[in-house]
Amino acid sequence: MNVSILGIPMDLGAGRRGVDMGPSALRNAQLARTLRGLGHTVEDLGDLKVAIPETLDKHEAGGLIFLDPIVDACRAAAERVAALPPGTFPLTLGGDHSVSMGTVTGNGLRGEPQRTGVIWVDAHTDYNTPESSPSGNIHGMPMAHLTGRGDERLARLGGDWQVRPEDVVMIGIRSVDPHERELLREAGIQAYTMKDVDQLGITRIHEETQERLSGVTRLHVSFDADALDPGVCPGVGTPVPGGLSYREGHLLMELLSESGRVTSLDIVEVNPILDTHNRTAEVMVGMAASLLGQRIM
Ligand code: ARG
Ligand code: MN
Ligand code: MN
Ligand code: MN
Repeated sequence: MNVSILGIPMDLGAGRRGVDMGPSALRNAQLARTLRGLGHTVEDLGDLKVAIPETLDKHEAGGLIFLDPIVDACRAAAERVAALPPGTFPLTLGGDHSVSMGTVTGNGLRGEPQRTGVIWVDAHTDYNTPESSPSGNIHGMPMAHLTGRGDERLARLGGDWQVRPEDVVMIGIRSVDPHERELLREAGIQAYTMKDVDQLGITRIHEETQERLSGVTRLHVSFDADALDPGVCPGVGTPVPGGLSYREGHLLMELLSESGRVTSLDIVEVNPILDTHNRTAEVMVGMAASLLGQRIM
């Protein structure tokens, strides 16, 4: 496979600084080399240019912190990803999770716009709107905007194209805000909590996910490092105890790899400032390798 790596060094959507260094940490953890070792042709496109918070006034527009520069970065990401040649697998590196509004949109619009399923692997549902958000941090809002809710500019990054709520499956969930929960219910989003992971196991959840998303022609995986337990991935800005184990994360990636249906991947929320010896980036490179076909035997 041809894999195109694109870094989006943005931390404007997060409450803490440092996820802008995520792409660098992931490269340092031998991302390209690992994927080449699996037989892929890997091209690193470098990083998009994203505004640095210290150069901006931290202004809040209608409950959204750094809205304008985030709109700009997401538009740029969407355009860049949409323009990638057919036959390449986009591997996009955050940055905070607001980058996914750009990457998912770009992937949906590549070539002919297509119905795109999203597997959101995360401790959080990221389904806040400006009104429901307790923090104003846009990284808590990308999935709501991808399904057409919230701020008009973010919700219409893809014009008329958007993700259908029934084409979203969330896995690893253990932190949902009160109003966010109502929005998820209204929209009918399928969310597997950690309780579901404990009770059903990853294998069954994966089967149900494939069943639910059987109608989509593209399948995007958006992997927030905080889905994994903080003991496994300490380098994240919004850690929540009780997350996916190292093996649960790998098993999910291995099963998705076997399905042969995944067409693009984000790795987001890796924060090297909060990490120990780049462990989180190393773990996430391993997750990408499992999704892209690494086999034990
Ligand atoms: N629900 C919280 C908020 O909206 C936390 C979101 C965390 N999101 C993330 N991508 N780490 O502020
Ligand atoms: Mn997230
Ligand atoms: Mn998260
Ligand atoms: Mn281990």
